[in-house]
Amino acid sequence: MATSDIDILYSQHMAVLQRRADEALRRGGYDHLLIPSGSLHYQLFDDRDYPYAVNPHFKHWLPLTQLPDSWLVHTPGKRPQLIYLQPSDYWHVVPEAPSGWWVDQVDIHIIRKPEEALPLLPKPAARCAIIGERQSALGEYAPNNPQAVVDYLHYQRSYKTGYELALMREAQRIAVRGHRAAVRAFREGLSEFEIHMAYCSATGQDAVDAPYRNIVALDTHGAVLHYTELGRTRPAYPHSFLIDAGASHCGYASDITRTYAYDTASEFHALIDATDAAQIGMGRSVRAGADYKQLHLDAHLTLAGILKDFGVLKVSPEEALATGVSGAFFPHGLGHPLGLQVHDVAGFAASDKGGTIARPQGHPALRMTRVLEPGMVMTIEPGIYFIDLLLSELRQGAHAGSVDWSRVDAFRRYGGIRIEDNVVCTEGDPENITRPAFASVE
Ligand code: GLY
Ligand code: MN
Ligand code: MN
Repeated sequence: MATSDIDILYSQHMAVLQRRADEALRRGGYDHLLIPSGSLHYQLFDDRDYPYAVNPHFKHWLPLTQLPDSWLVHTPGKRPQLIYLQPSDYWHVVPEAPSGWWVDQVDIHIIRKPEEALPLLPKPAARCAIIGERQSALGEYAPNNPQAVVDYLHYQRSYKTGYELALMREAQRIAVRGHRAAVRAFREGLSEFEIHMAYCSATGQDAVDAPYRNIVALDTHGAVLHYTELGRTRPAYPHSFLIDAGASHCGYASDITRTYAYDTASEFHALIDATDAAQIGMGRSVRAGADYKQLHLDAHLTLAGILKDFGVLKVSPEEALATGVSGAFFPHGLGHPLGLQVHDVAGFAASDKGGTIARPQGHPALRMTRVLEPGMVMTIEPGIYFIDLLLSELRQGAHAGSVDWSRVDAFRRYGGIRIEDNVVCTEGDPENITRPAFASVE
């Protein structure tokens, strides 16, 4: 993207955030919004720090993800103030002098020590809504996270600005470079760890940069939903490969899963193809007014239909859903909101004043229950798994007869399938931002 485009998008984004902040302060009854960037955390009895994770509210305003002990201050009617810690430190690399397309939108105050922020913060502290983690407290300025302010800001965060969408599209392109390298490494017979390293090398991001820990799962490991072990042994003969890995760009996440069969003539390959085609269809259902709960239930019916076509289920999709049998093969939700956090906020929010929309009965893993509106970004990630724990429960229960167990046994060694794209709800047709990123490198 040309620098001038991102300049314009960012200034529009900042205007939106300032309007939202004004309203949040009005609702909470405060005069100023303060957002500390967060501080380093140390391991017990050690001087070793945990990877720094910036306050997501801070990176909503600024594309800065490595700036501990800094503050964003918003006062209605004034330009945003950035208190920017650039310490005098010869042990570590210090943040660079502020530069880039964002600097003109804020007044910047450089400080050399965290406490130098104190005289720059608006007074009195009691009139400030301070959104952050407890460890960010500086004197009287302790995060209070007023509920009315947080509820409003989190709800509004669901509606991505053009600036945010541009950054999220770039996070797709970065992750796709990694996915391409990873599948090549799988075809070469490399270990999970080696595939992970190939991924990191191709994205230029490691575990600290990535929005979540890479799931690099060979064979039955694909049946562990959040498998993050990274085995060091090369498989004697690989059967399948499930990779769930994203990338970050200016603080925004992508969250992408693909599944591959080593033998492209296998029945498992055909099962992947069927799931992939179904997933594309599910992505097309991301439309304003659609209820995400219903999309999740529809996904159960579609996946149960695939399992019936492949001879795994002996009952109708409707019966499989009603009896919970489909849940043994698809035990997670269809997806979740995505943005500054991989599992972004407000997936259950009933309104900008708080409240929760309940999950459908029997679907405790669903992470989003909202009715879709333009600007929301979410994942669509159906899966079919062969998980020993869940299948043995099913086999001992009242609905064991719904399943052809010989067909289950034929698929067990492949672990599972998940196909995950990131989709934007618009005024019209949905925008799948993942598939074009793959298409552009194929
Ligand atoms: N990568 C975690 C998830 O898909 O939700
Ligand atoms: Mn996801
Ligand atoms: Mn994922």
